[in-house]
Amino acid sequence: MSTRVLSGTRPTGKLHLGHLLGTLENYKKLEGQDAYFMIADWHALTTEYESHTEIAANVLAVMIDYLASGLDPTKCTIFVQSEVHEHAEMALLLSMITPLGWLERNPTYKDQLKELQNKDLHTHGFLGYPVLQAADILLYKAEKVPVGEDQLPHLELTREIARRFHHLYGKEIFTEPEAILTQIPRVPGLDGRKMSKSYNNCIYISDSAEEVTKKVKTMVTDPARKRREDKGHPEVCPVYALHKIVNPENVETVAFECRTAQRGCVECKMEMAIKLNEFLAPVRKRHEEWSGRKDDIRVILDLGRDKAQKVARATLDETMKAVGMR
Ligand code: TRP
Ligand code: SF4
Repeated sequence: MSTRVLSGTRPTGKLHLGHLLGTLENYKKLEGQDAYFMIADWHALTTEYESHTEIAANVLAVMIDYLASGLDPTKCTIFVQSEVHEHAEMALLLSMITPLGWLERNPTYKDQLKELQNKDLHTHGFLGYPVLQAADILLYKAEKVPVGEDQLPHLELTREIARRFHHLYGKEIFTEPEAILTQIPRVPGLDGRKMSKSYNNCIYISDSAEEVTKKVKTMVTDPARKRREDKGHPEVCPVYALHKIVNPENVETVAFECRTAQRGCVECKMEMAIKLNEFLAPVRKRHEEWSGRKDDIRVILDLGRDKAQKVARATLDETMKAVGMR
């Protein structure tokens, strides 16, 4: 028996190396299971409602990035959240039984309010973000949910909502999901902070080889190496962190030569950029191919929607019955 897996990505723009090494690599490993991968456009709207972002265009961009990462649409089900209407209905239903206190206490919610000060997120929709996510997961009775660490509070809330439902209605409908944490913990951006669109420090999956090389040249390194002859500390250097990922066979040499000032940062970056481009070459090739196949992508998403909807519909019917609405 294969495991039911569900995960989603918010389409707020093209995906970067952090997504590729974390999220997408995890998806790829799980595609042979009974796996559903969703492009969470409703979730994108919770933070983008004011900015008039072309969410539909971003959905397509994320889909191309999914396929570029090597995800095989014949092995897993890929769909757009808002195209399966059951997500919105289930979210409304679960919102009836979710205590406000649970949402207000959610650490991810509090962090985001603080971090995204430029946006007015004091909305019903944003507070209810985890309820919508619970609906996504519970509709499919997903056993495993591949996510980053920041999503753990949302998964805990999903389990709590499921338990509360079972307790209230005396029917065991839902499965309590477990997280599968991404292996590569934290991909540093060009400035050494976590790679993130809002920090403007990303290497994107769709960047050309020239762009990647140019960006790597601008990366910060160990600030202690002011002069070429200064000894370095690779463990604080984001260039080194990327060496570990794309140049694992040479990391020891890189670290040794950095510590003993036998290598300069310029050559060190060049070596990393070459390896990174080698690593990205097949991804880039698939990206180009799929960019020219928009009609095929529409067909894949239609099939995904229909397949997902069958599962979602059945669970929603069960749930509506349990609460006495059917
Ligand atoms: N909140 C998730 C994130 O920001 C995206 C998401 C939406 C999701 N629905 C989901 C992840 C369901 C896992 C399962 O990364
Ligand atoms: Fe970083 Fe390489 Fe410079 Fe060392 S030599 S500080 S690892 S870029």
